[in-house]
Amino acid sequence: MDTLEVELSFRTKYILIDRTGDENKITETLASIGCHSHYIVTNRSVAEAGWGNRYMDYFKRSNQPYRTYYVPEGEEAKSIDVALDIYRDLMDLNADRSWCIYALGGGTVGDLSGFIASTFKRGLRLIMIPTTLLSMIDSSIGGKNGVDYRGVKNVIGTFYFPEYVVIDLNFLETLPAREFISGLSEAIKYGVTLDRELFEFLERNDPEYIYRSNPALRYVVERSIAIKNSIVERDPLDSKGVRAVLNYGHTIGHAIELIKDLDLRHGEAVALGMLYECVVSRKIDESYCPTDVEERLEDILYRYGLVKNLDLGRYTDLVIHNLVHDKKIRKSNLKIPVVTGIGDHTIVDVPLTRYISLLKDFLGIKQ
Ligand SMILES: NC(=O)c1ccc[n+]([C@@H]2O[C@H](COP(=O)([O-])OP(=O)(O)OC[C@H]3O[C@@H](n4cnc5c(N)ncnc54)[C@H](O)[C@@H]3O)[C@@H](O)[C@H]2O)c1
Repeated sequence: MDTLEVELSFRTKYILIDRTGDENKITETLASIGCHSHYIVTNRSVAEAGWGNRYMDYFKRSNQPYRTYYVPEGEEAKSIDVALDIYRDLMDLNADRSWCIYALGGGTVGDLSGFIASTFKRGLRLIMIPTTLLSMIDSSIGGKNGVDYRGVKNVIGTFYFPEYVVIDLNFLETLPAREFISGLSEAIKYGVTLDRELFEFLERNDPEYIYRSNPALRYVVERSIAIKNSIVERDPLDSKGVRAVLNYGHTIGHAIELIKDLDLRHGEAVALGMLYECVVSRKIDESYCPTDVEERLEDILYRYGLVKNLDLGRYTDLVIHNLVHDKKIRKSNLKIPVVTGIGDHTIVDVPLTRYISLLKDFLGIKQ
């Protein structure tokens, strides 16, 4: 089995297990981490998926204290009530700071687990084992965690860097195609804002090929991680504005992701967000998101099946409510990344009122 070990930002160590498969590698990898009491946060579909079972078996066989906590599927896991229930459980177990929290799942499990690990007794060891493409290339890197509250995404959370991220590409075998494609949306985001070569690679190929071809998948995963990490390293706690670029598509994306009727995966919401933010940014300055960039972005997002035509005008109030609580707002200004060419971007400050008015215009709403 092919593995790659890299020191990531802060103290994170990143281990990639390829799809060429040897089950012993899982045991060796987990043993090398050196935890002696294990608290595994996961959900049923991950635990019962083939590779999930193999990880769970390791904990069962370890003859060490372990507990598995099953969270609800998807975004429902990211709630303060679920977090409180886990704190209760950890207290009942008398868990101390020598315990490790394992996030065995997608971005939702990772965001919740990171929040628990960061806050319980001021910090437990955190090991991320991402099981979706999105969590492998995005959410398990960079230390952001959180839960949703009152319909707003990630409004409660901290920065807390995992000690290890174990990326096992075998998990993708059981991942539904829609979830795999949702993850590719974040790779497209890295490409369009920061890396022309990655964008053009994604343009030349399609999700099915990337899924089947080991080299193509590894290229997308490793390149995406390197790009995200290069940004995170320059601004680990998101205090200098450098990380804002990683939010491309997320201002509007987050505002629509929790609208239940739309039933969007995270990457689908971001894809729609990227297109909307492109058009809205051109109203701020004609040089932003030129039409050739818009055409190429639109082409790839439709071709990958990431966007559908949706009538967002019906949800304007909800979108605005969510926008107002965006974490990028400082003194009523929104810091937004705008694309200036494929692989290039700049960050601009826009008054929130102006942004909302442009967005309302775009959605065809009378003010
Ligand atoms: N912290 C960050 O920096 C960051 C960055 C991007 C996104 N996020 C967050 O990540 C979340 C989205 O993550 P996601 O797209 O991974 O969604 P998810 O965690 O909801 O997983 C998607 C679905 O796939 C299932 N699943 C996961 N792995 C599987 C596997 N190997 N086989 C079969 N089924 C599997 C899950 O049970 C779930 O139903 C959002 O809440 C988003 O806000 C966080």
